[in-house]
Amino acid sequence: MLLRILYETLKSVFQVIVPPSPKDVKDDIILITGTGHGMGREVAVRLARLGATLVCVDINSANNEETAKIIKQEKGKAHAYRCDVTNRAAVMELAEKVKREVGDVTILVNNAGIMPCKPLLQQTEQEIRLMNDINIHGNLWMIQAFLPAMISSERGQIVAMSSMAGLMGLGNLVPYCGSKYAVRGIMDALAMELHMDPRRLDGIKLTTICPYMVDTGLCKKPRVRFQNLRSNRVVGVDEAADTIVDAIRRELTDITIPHELYYVNKFLYVPMSRAAKHIGYEFFNAGVDAHDD
Ligand SMILES: NC(=O)c1ccc[n+]([C@@H]2O[C@H](COP(=O)([O-])OP(=O)(O)OC[C@H]3O[C@@H](n4cnc5c(N)ncnc54)[C@H](O)[C@@H]3O)[C@@H](O)[C@H]2O)c1
Repeated sequence: MLLRILYETLKSVFQVIVPPSPKDVKDDIILITGTGHGMGREVAVRLARLGATLVCVDINSANNEETAKIIKQEKGKAHAYRCDVTNRAAVMELAEKVKREVGDVTILVNNAGIMPCKPLLQQTEQEIRLMNDINIHGNLWMIQAFLPAMISSERGQIVAMSSMAGLMGLGNLVPYCGSKYAVRGIMDALAMELHMDPRRLDGIKLTTICPYMVDTGLCKKPRVRFQNLRSNRVVGVDEAADTIVDAIRRELTDITIPHELYYVNKFLYVPMSRAAKHIGYEFFNAGVDAHDD
């Protein structure tokens, strides 16, 4: 057992130096939720440029149709569906419709999410429930709907948008952090469940993305003391989308955006005591300020 653990650890260190080659996605049917705006749209457009067939899903039809139009104008393949990921019955109906009209989804990207940003005591029950319904339950319903076809073919990939808020606690984001920690928990547990399955379903790859602050408008009042520090900046949506596409194609297990935060988190942040974390947080003074809408 120890030798096998050592082998896998050395292999993962080697893969940091020599990452796996990016896979070809031109035969993939890729479903992304939240394609009407932000990272979802940009990732969809990039994957379509690589020849994949895109299934764009959003609650906002007009914005989502616009994404499909952008893809088609570039001669890409896109299908737009309106769906509220919080509605389990609608998600199951979507899965049947997509299977019938497009085919089996081979890569699922659970991206839709919202982020109420204010102190916990000012967040309403409705806001917190809706956020958990989208950020947590939406992920689970989509996985329940699209995993069975992946299991049948013993291949596929599920990608989840967690956040740096799923790796560290941040002020004004108490319920949001909870939801993004939950996303990481879901992905870790699903990986274990697939591995423990008698069929050894390790052929289904899981990728968790943890962005910090990306300028999509979701983060309305970002606060950054050291703008020039690579690990501590607001990242442009183009850079974030390029990084996500690369992680999907290399089937990486987890990444942070910016990339440098991965090591800061693993080797510096995680081992720190809570008091030490607070000192670091105050010094770097990076996070999000509260807002009402
Ligand atoms: N922007 C950031 O700084 C940042 C940082 C870390 C993590 N994230 C996460 O990345 C993901 C994408 O963020 P973004 O900034 O691109 O968001 P965005 O607000 O730009 O886009 C989110 C999209 O999700 C859609 N959506 C919302 N509720 C939905 C529902 N119930 N059903 C279907 N679609 C729904 C919206 O209509 C919108 O088109 C989110 O999960 C977010 O939490 C974002």
